[in-house]
Amino acid sequence: MSEPRLPSVYNLISLERCASTNDEARDLARQGEDAAPDGTLVWAREQTKGRGRRGRDWVSPPGNLHLSLILRPEVPLREAAQLSFVTAVALYDALGNISEPGHQIHLKWPNDVLLQEKKVAGILLESEAGGAEFPEWVIVGLGVNVAHFPDDAAYPATSLSAEHWTVTVEDTLVAFARSFQRWANIWVEEGFDKVRRTWLNRAIGKGKAIEVRLENETLTGNFKDLDDDGALILEGDGAERRIAAGVVYFPDN
Ligand code: BTN
Repeated sequence: MSEPRLPSVYNLISLERCASTNDEARDLARQGEDAAPDGTLVWAREQTKGRGRRGRDWVSPPGNLHLSLILRPEVPLREAAQLSFVTAVALYDALGNISEPGHQIHLKWPNDVLLQEKKVAGILLESEAGGAEFPEWVIVGLGVNVAHFPDDAAYPATSLSAEHWTVTVEDTLVAFARSFQRWANIWVEEGFDKVRRTWLNRAIGKGKAIEVRLENETLTGNFKDLDDDGALILEGDGAERRIAAGVVYFPDN
């Protein structure tokens, strides 16, 4: 089978199957820059132990897209976390470029991409700073439900095929790689502001009443903003609260 043609900034490692592309990428990244330069993209057609956020499994059958990008940004860990928003806006554009008109794509805080208000993709950012301010590498893991979706997910899910898109994993991979290159350049050259504003314009629930489920409590309020660290600003009872991690739900769900 011929390999997809990605822009030359990427070093594509294509695998039939692995446990988790994030784990493969981490093992490579630890070997150093010669083994895994910035832009190394590990793609597996199937994962047998795909990982999601909050310790969840990510079901990863053949037909879906599973990739992990090794990046070596020269920024503090705090700023490197912005890369999950870079990834989300890039995937939004990529899906827009390969979709039929008339589909609703939204971004959902912090790391989800929705199609017809159901989760179609998730992002898992990992790094290893070992106490240093600057991480040696950051791994951006991206899973897109192209052909399959879990029907027992905590948040309702869908796939591109279920919404009648006729695109392949390869189409999705190439479209994402192209738009990620563009957005990563914007981030490196102009900083987070344009990414942040673009993300907010595409976000579901902005300015509306939302519920945020934290580890031990559930908060309600108005989704007001996203700060420079990617935290959600929730406004309620005349006060603002900054939320670094949680899951957003909408009152109708
Ligand atoms: C989420 O929970 O929403 C994040 C899902 C991230 C899944 C991707 S698939 C490729 C990469 N490898 C993994 O094991 N996880 C990420």
